[in-house]
Amino acid sequence: MKKAPIEWRIPEHIGIIMDGNGRWAKKRGLPRPIGHTYGAKTFKNITRYISRQGVKYLTLYAFSTENWKRPLEEVNALMKIFRQYLIDSLVNFREDDIKVVFIGDRSAFPSDIIQLINETEEIAKDRKGMQLNIAMNYGGRAEILSAVKQIYEDIRDGRMSEEELTEASVSSRLYTAGMPDPDLIIRTGGEHRLSNFMLYQAAYAEFYSTDTLWPDFSEKDFDKAVEEFNQRSRRFGGV
Ligand code: IPE
Ligand code: IPE
Ligand code: MG
Repeated sequence: MKKAPIEWRIPEHIGIIMDGNGRWAKKRGLPRPIGHTYGAKTFKNITRYISRQGVKYLTLYAFSTENWKRPLEEVNALMKIFRQYLIDSLVNFREDDIKVVFIGDRSAFPSDIIQLINETEEIAKDRKGMQLNIAMNYGGRAEILSAVKQIYEDIRDGRMSEEELTEASVSSRLYTAGMPDPDLIIRTGGEHRLSNFMLYQAAYAEFYSTDTLWPDFSEKDFDKAVEEFNQRSRRFGGV
């Protein structure tokens, strides 16, 4: 039987867990931070490519609340790369009209990085293209906990009634307030776990894992993920 052609769907919101930089470097006998430097190049190229595919929201997991556990030397190397990332994104994403937003607790970063984050957001705030969320010092549990605290205070201080406490009121207190939930979450580096990424928002996201290490992740790898997404049947609990 001939199959009816399916309508090609570009996910509206894609999340990417950019994993495998360290292993990429190790495979080449290089120190781990070199892997992060190459990962930053992939970040720039892939973001541009994805924005040109018509994706509306892209959330990239750059640094988790748990990544502070790494040796100080690696954390410092990452901070150095972030400074470069941030300056780069100011310049590079202008031509594609990409709006840049940071999600996570930025207050833990050195003050010059906080300033760069604020400036990057400010400069890009009126852009009309894809919204790029960079998750830095982001943790899904910390995000949910912060929403719970806000709700507790709002109820305690009479700004909100108990009846108003709905799923929507939780969503609106997450870093991703006002954004659609991710449709597709891609993880590079071969692991099959979320590692504290978008725990609340990922409820019905399609999960795609590839063995490709992040610095090697190419436009072709991205296309493959979208192709597989198109083959999934999303039922959202229905039939
Ligand atoms: C992902 O690559 C980047 C960050 C978490 C900052 P890793 O550094 O986790 O690379 P692997 O997983 O050790 O190869
Ligand atoms: C997840 O990768 C975090 C980011 C990609 C920023 P990790 O390398 O930290 O995750 P685990 O430790 O393998 O779960
Ligand atoms: Mg890793």
